[in-house]
Amino acid sequence: MPRYCYVNGRFTPHNQGAVHIEDRGYQFADGVYEVVTVADGKLVDEEGHMARLDRSLKELRMPAPMKRAVLQLKMRELIRLNGLTDGLVYMQVTRGVAPRNHAFPAEDTPPALVMTTKRMDFASMRKFTDGVSVVTRPDLRWARCDIKTVSLLPNCLAKQEAYEAGAYEAWLVKENGEVTEGSSSNAWIVTADGKLITRPPTNEILNGITRRTIITLAAEEGLTFEERAFSVDEAHAAAECFVSSATSFVTPVVKVDDAVIGDGSPGPLSRKLLDAYKDYIAGRRDRAA
Ligand code: PDD
Repeated sequence: MPRYCYVNGRFTPHNQGAVHIEDRGYQFADGVYEVVTVADGKLVDEEGHMARLDRSLKELRMPAPMKRAVLQLKMRELIRLNGLTDGLVYMQVTRGVAPRNHAFPAEDTPPALVMTTKRMDFASMRKFTDGVSVVTRPDLRWARCDIKTVSLLPNCLAKQEAYEAGAYEAWLVKENGEVTEGSSSNAWIVTADGKLITRPPTNEILNGITRRTIITLAAEEGLTFEERAFSVDEAHAAAECFVSSATSFVTPVVKVDDAVIGDGSPGPLSRKLLDAYKDYIAGRRDRAA
């Protein structure tokens, strides 16, 4: 089955999808994006992702490429064309094509929209059953991490260092020793007395859509939740740790740097939340982010 992408108004074979060399996304990373999970053919937390895309666009004073409802139709059409049942949709909006100049282009410059899909076999992923390790690295990013921009170089450098250290993720750390989030996920710990902790959604982190869903699921499960910063030392000593994102769901963390978390296997709360999240995306629980 041929694989399609969507580029500026057209569905095109994936290997022929191309944007102009003066697209501002290419030259300035002047763009925003979303990653939406597709599970059993359905988009997970679609409204939450669309609302965050609108917010990112607004924060960067970038026009929307089309009406939200039309974009949602295009997304569904791409999923159908690619016969996607499990995986993700990647969508990216940039400020369009214009002669290189740091300042914004003329107001009538149309934003560029690109969408691709990727197949993923969530059911066979070992990370959910075995857990993963993370390493901590300095947070070198800018002061607007709440915007989901494609400007991801510090994130890429941290992720590469994690991979080179044999880890799944890098947790980014402020100068005062607090963990902000992962290079492409939100960071969570469970304290020795069973409290679930994650950082509040300020400008220092991306307010993950999965993060928000997990907070609701945790409340439904009667877990004690505290939204506050935690330190690397607390993470090393935590009873459990996990990361969350559209593609990580709830991925248990069994090692942070050299510290083995719990008994080195996924902890009970992490497993409970992963099960709840899997039930949620399979439509076995009813609520939306
Ligand atoms: N990343 N923090 C960062 C820095 C992220 O890049 C992501 C998602 C998250 C989690 O957000 P959500 O739950 O909405 O996926 C937190 C996506 C998956 C990516 O860049 O591929």
